[in-house]
Amino acid sequence: MKKRTFGPQLFIYPMPVVIVGAIVNEKPNFNTIAYCGVAQSQPPMLAISMDKRRYTITGIKENRTFSVNIPSVEMLEPTDYIGTCSGRDVDKSGLFNLFYGKLKTAPMIEECPVNIECELADYMDFGGKNDLLIGRIVETYAENKYLTDEYPDIEKIRPIVFTRQDHKYWETGRFLTEAYKTGKKYNNLEDR
Ligand SMILES: Cc1cc2nc3c(=O)[nH]c(=O)nc-3n(C[C@H](O)[C@H](O)[C@H](O)COP(=O)(O)O)c2cc1C
Repeated sequence: MKKRTFGPQLFIYPMPVVIVGAIVNEKPNFNTIAYCGVAQSQPPMLAISMDKRRYTITGIKENRTFSVNIPSVEMLEPTDYIGTCSGRDVDKSGLFNLFYGKLKTAPMIEECPVNIECELADYMDFGGKNDLLIGRIVETYAENKYLTDEYPDIEKIRPIVFTRQDHKYWETGRFLTEAYKTGKKYNNLEDR
């Protein structure tokens, strides 16, 4: 085996693309985030890594609420745009139709197939560029048209995938096979 080394790199393939919303200085603001994942399964919590200089982060810390909205590939253009300009310089509040849920201060985007409403549980500063924001999920939203068997369906959502090194957007591929079943033959190695 001969592998090249690259030093410390964020080689996470693939990365999701989500839109984070918060009220900043009494106005809804949104940015695009690729550093987003699960922090804990029960009770459900998520983690996003946000540069400390982002305008959105000031509102999240102030209100201790935010939203995570999953855009579909049909929303690529506005999703990219809000990731290239700051709410400090431009007003991004009129780009989408908004609604509010239980927390009242976490603006959510109607056009996004899935919305996750969060309370800021905590944030961590590792002394670098970003803060790790931990969100306690208080509610989730999706329209019936995005569901199959009562749950959001990836083929109906059509989420955007991001590759960081080359700054490219992708679609998800095709269904492969059932999880938690496909490795079954390794359960009993003697039987093989
Ligand atoms: C595809 C994409 C992914 C991004 N991911 C992140 C991220 O994970 N964390 C982050 O802090 N900024 C990320 N950004 C940059 C912010 O979205 C961008 O700086 C935005 O203009 C900040 O807006 P704000 O200052 O209004 O919060 C990303 C941008 C794009 C286009």
